[in-house]
Amino acid sequence: MYILGIETSCDESAASVIKFYPRSRRIEVLSDVVASQIEIHKKYGGVVPEIAAREHVLNILPVINEAITKANLEIKKLNLLAVTKGPGLITSLITGMETVRALAYAWNKPVLEVNHITGHIYSNFINPTSPIKYPAVILTVSGGHTILLSMNNQEKIKILGETRDDAAGEAYDKAAKMMNLGYPGGPIISRYAAKYEQTWHKKTGKASIPTETDIELPRPMINSHDFDFSFSGLKTALLYKLKQDKSWKKRIPEYCFAYQQAIIDILINKTLKAAKKFHARTIMLSGGVSANNELRKQMTKAVKKEIKGINFLIPDHKYTTDNAVMIAAAAAFKFDPHKTVNFKKLKVDASLQLK
Ligand code: KG4
Ligand code: ZN
Repeated sequence: MYILGIETSCDESAASVIKFYPRSRRIEVLSDVVASQIEIHKKYGGVVPEIAAREHVLNILPVINEAITKANLEIKKLNLLAVTKGPGLITSLITGMETVRALAYAWNKPVLEVNHITGHIYSNFINPTSPIKYPAVILTVSGGHTILLSMNNQEKIKILGETRDDAAGEAYDKAAKMMNLGYPGGPIISRYAAKYEQTWHKKTGKASIPTETDIELPRPMINSHDFDFSFSGLKTALLYKLKQDKSWKKRIPEYCFAYQQAIIDILINKTLKAAKKFHARTIMLSGGVSANNELRKQMTKAVKKEIKGINFLIPDHKYTTDNAVMIAAAAAFKFDPHKTVNFKKLKVDASLQLK
């Protein structure tokens, strides 16, 4: 089965062709094209929806063209189109959806609408490094979402908890903005944090994560008896610390380290708690924040130490941030011919809920 995936929910115009083997339920990635707008939005310190929408219009057809050319696939062999329905920026989503509407009509192909979060979840199903055994617990952490989920089989997803305010990626982005470090905040803050860690290792000769910093930040809701998250209190705590410290500009790596560590502690704690409670046999990470090397490293270590014999999966770096392979993958695993949508009825939903 050949699937063309298309993703335009935020600031990446992406298209991918995958080959799905229904019997072995395996995915072969034939092409993966992403036109990122980061360089354009950088100077504004965040995504400007109007600009993102205009860029998608310029990029989407060349991106699709490249994806099909790289896959070396004749259009007549394509079995399915998969497109992000939501959640996301409405003006960005529309470009992907309207393009797919035109292609579905012109090529006479069925279309499956995909939830963007479902896409992130299924990024773990693209060439997994170990088998996915059920029940599984998945943490999806991106710029717009922080959700803990469980899966009892390959298709059924259940929400265990989610953020009550900011998403983890948003917490990174806002902190970077506060310190004038640039956009997107995640990779920038993590680079500064690594710098602090290196200096600390040199100074102390210890190989562990730094244990000394007098920048104490809270870990909101870490001990709450549910699986929800909250990051806005952490962000405010950082703001007050910076306001009180006249020389904060000289301690940026340390602030980034302390802030990142608070986020990582919360994410690891809640994920492991859920995995233990639901007797998970697999833990999976996904979303842009799961590109974070420190989170990947610390979570790997904590899982190994605390839960014996559990499988732990993290997608390849390129499938953590927004891409179209994950949209095509989600369509492959959830493919149901009764759920395809006629081109006339395709519709975006900016606040689409996960079902
Ligand atoms: O999944 P994604 O590409 O888009 C959304 O669906 O939101 O995630 C983007 C988010 C941004 O907030 C960005 O700061 C964060 O992922 N991010 C990171 C890293 N790379 C991207 N956060 C922490 N560490 C990273 N290395
Ligand atoms: Zn995303």
